[in-house]
Amino acid sequence: MKIGIISGSVRQGRNSAHVARWVASSVKDLGLADVDFEVVPLADYQLPAFDSPISPMAATEPFENPEVARWGRTIASFDAYILVTPEYNHSVPGALKNAVDWLGRELHGKPIAFVSYGADGGVRATEHWRQIVANFEMIDIRSSIALGLFTDFDKDGIAPQPRRAAEIATLANSLVATTRRWQRDLTSQAA
Ligand SMILES: Cc1cc2nc3c(=O)[nH]c(=O)nc-3n(C[C@H](O)[C@H](O)[C@H](O)COP(=O)(O)O)c2cc1C
Repeated sequence: MKIGIISGSVRQGRNSAHVARWVASSVKDLGLADVDFEVVPLADYQLPAFDSPISPMAATEPFENPEVARWGRTIASFDAYILVTPEYNHSVPGALKNAVDWLGRELHGKPIAFVSYGADGGVRATEHWRQIVANFEMIDIRSSIALGLFTDFDKDGIAPQPRRAAEIATLANSLVATTRRWQRDLTSQAA
């Protein structure tokens, strides 16, 4: 099983890089058998503002733009996701929403969990993401993590409160169990 940890900010000096690194190292320590986690920094992709005449849900071919096609291939290669999202203006960050707008089948039906951060933990971003991913019929994991800018960070980056270790374990275990169930369902439907 492959799980992508999407580092969802493209801002210079972004905190998402610290958060994604912490998520990656925490989940590796859980020793989950047959699960590979990989960080995908959104900032590594130069995606244009969505301008296609065709909705990605309806597209039958990869998009021509090489960065969009590369982004689509990367996202398609995962079975499930942990979305590391900041909260911008009480909602999801525009660059990450634009990146998701370029996707369709790559995400469809797959499990996803959320790690947010912000002054109040970024919970509004996570709750807005739950509405967005419903359009992809994704399976959103109930457990989420909401890191506070004033309680889980220091001047050098992330400094999570001790309780976050248990929270990330719960989130990852739930995501992996759900993904295994989803894979079994796919296999039995194909048989
Ligand atoms: C444009 C913008 C809007 C923001 N709006 C909010 C907000 O509504 N709520 C909040 O808690 N933090 C808000 N913040 C603070 C961000 O959560 C904080 O800067 C965080 O580090 C951003 O993530 P990033 O560094 O990975 O880009 C905002 C930051 C920016 C740049």
